[in-house]
Amino acid sequence: MNKFNIFGISSGDAFSEALTLEDPDYLVAAPGIPLQRKLKDALSDWRFEDLYSEGTILSQDKSIHEKIAYNQFLDWTLGILNDLAEDKDPDYDLIAEKIQNLVQNLKEDPSKILLACEEDLNENESAIQNLAVHSTISCILSILIGIQFKLSDERLEELGIAGLLHEAGMLKLPTEVYYSNLSLSPVNRKHLLAHPVLGYKLLKSFKFPEAVCAPALEHHERENGQGYPRGVGSNKINLYSKIVAVACSYEAFNSKKPYKDEVRQATRGILEILRNEGKAYDDRIVRALVQALSIYPIGSFVMLSNGSPAQVIRSIPNEPKFPQVAVIKNGKQSDEIITRADGIYIIGAISRQEAMA
Ligand SMILES: [Fe+2]
Repeated sequence: MNKFNIFGISSGDAFSEALTLEDPDYLVAAPGIPLQRKLKDALSDWRFEDLYSEGTILSQDKSIHEKIAYNQFLDWTLGILNDLAEDKDPDYDLIAEKIQNLVQNLKEDPSKILLACEEDLNENESAIQNLAVHSTISCILSILIGIQFKLSDERLEELGIAGLLHEAGMLKLPTEVYYSNLSLSPVNRKHLLAHPVLGYKLLKSFKFPEAVCAPALEHHERENGQGYPRGVGSNKINLYSKIVAVACSYEAFNSKKPYKDEVRQATRGILEILRNEGKAYDDRIVRALVQALSIYPIGSFVMLSNGSPAQVIRSIPNEPKFPQVAVIKNGKQSDEIITRADGIYIIGAISRQEAMA
């Protein structure tokens, strides 16, 4: 019998088996029937702190495993970044094993992992925690782009590690340089521009393969030669660096954190990455990103043509405009539909707050 603290259950949650009081004869909710808010409030008023079920919470079943796995991965990334910050030699083989695992999971079903990443950040998180989130999501997106390019598992592994560690140079800078809402002083801006070289040197000092080190140096180089630190053009930039550049820029725009990076000054919004005006990014890579995520990325909230808000849960291969969505009713996911199939279209992106209202 599983014990559930009443404060850990949301009203509307349903269980796979009967939910009861400690005495199993007192049925609180039948299998699959959502716990009513009034009943939940009454139970807590009556000081029933725990409820019991042989089953699990159905509404959390789908994503809880991925959420836990994602959070564990995030903690692991944080550990690596902390080690790098203290110049401790990270275990490359262990990193490679972990990333190879992620590659296989992403090949199997990227949707659940992407949904697990879609969570508002706690504003109180530290700069290095936010760097861990940026690094983890950049790593995931880099691998997804690499999968579109049909790279071998071995190359996807290198690319994933490169995506994970591309901001290593930031760890050698004061946190206010890359994590602050304030605009940068000329001195701090100079510091920021040094992070690609610092990162490259740091990873090199641990004898990491060149394929993993190069994106740390080159992820701010741009196709049109207007990047830094060297300002070189398309044919001088490594493929992994181009992929990490798109993943990193996309993540930086998609997140709400005050994560400061050159891309914020370089372009005005996420759509510009997708439109690729000014040809800052390699077109093939932008297309691969759109293909992998669809125009409406997994986890994002949208308004449907029938007036219902929904959350994108899966992209359909070759149909970037018509992903599978879950309709939001009363602040919770309900029916899943494939847009267009039922004559229903996405009419635009909305915020989480608008979707949940
Ligand atoms: Fe960077």
